[in-house]
Amino acid sequence: AAEKAALKDRIRRLLKEKEATLVAHYYVDADLQDLAEETGGCVSDSLEMARFGRDNPAKTLVVAGVRFMGETAKILSPEKTILMPDLDATCSLDLGCPADEFAAFCDQHPDRTVVVYANTSAAVKARADWMVTSSIGLDIVEHLHKQGKKILWAPDRHLGSYIQKKTGADMLLWQGSCLVHDEFKGVELDLLRAEYPDAKVLVHPESPANVVAQADVVGSTTQLIDAARTMDATTFIVATDNGILHKMRAAAPGKHFIDAPTAGNSATCKSCAHCPWMAMNGLQNLADVLEKGHNEIHVDPETGRQAKRAIDRMLDFAA
Ligand code: 13P
Ligand code: SF4
Repeated sequence: AAEKAALKDRIRRLLKEKEATLVAHYYVDADLQDLAEETGGCVSDSLEMARFGRDNPAKTLVVAGVRFMGETAKILSPEKTILMPDLDATCSLDLGCPADEFAAFCDQHPDRTVVVYANTSAAVKARADWMVTSSIGLDIVEHLHKQGKKILWAPDRHLGSYIQKKTGADMLLWQGSCLVHDEFKGVELDLLRAEYPDAKVLVHPESPANVVAQADVVGSTTQLIDAARTMDATTFIVATDNGILHKMRAAAPGKHFIDAPTAGNSATCKSCAHCPWMAMNGLQNLADVLEKGHNEIHVDPETGRQAKRAIDRMLDFAA
């Protein structure tokens, strides 16, 4: 514990010294989330991380999350130095959508508006008309559908089919998935709900359709935390990465949270739904990157300029 406290002090001191701001996602280690908040950084969902990073005056941003979040920060602020605790922290959605294959897919469907999820590489975003996050994807597709647009969606098939069902839009889906959310099980969730009939079910839309179908609220990480805080219930079943529970508990003191069942999860398994790449962010490597200034995110400037158009469209829509 003393070692941990010393590391945290070192990080606080280095953030000041280097005039750096820490931007963290809700799935990273609780200590990192707390540090981000108490030092004037932010802990949030992908949309707010992008917006906060863009608007923050610091010359250096340290992004505690996964690679696409660091890349988005760099694309929006090419003049800033963007560091990450571990550059190998990727995402199964990003890995499952290689830019060359994606470009070929787009080439086959030139009549479609290309909408990509934030969880993609800069090169994939550069090929897109719009980028969206889970908090705003539904609204943006609805808007495009009303304009009569046909959509090519990538990469998350569960989020894509959820939006498709809700909006009735004509959507052609890339078949990617998140390795964490894909593990939530509908049948087991049904059984768990029978045990807790008063519980409300909070689901991230990267989860399979038979899990989403049982949700009281479907939303981004921020939207799920808001629901836990504001909903009139004392027990919640949560189908998303369990890193979220740290802030959820803080936002809704006295309420009770239960992990939704996954394939490898039983009543005794407390840490099945956790992203291995988010878990690569720790106090030690955060302190090290701040000290040494290594692990800088670079995005090819031309690719970045192309990708920025798709991200700016979303941010303008959200404004
Ligand atoms: P949010 O934008 O909802 O925070 O989601 C990001 C993510 O990677 C979910 O797995
Ligand atoms: Fe990607 Fe899933 Fe990890 Fe989110 S939880 S970063 S979607 S692998």
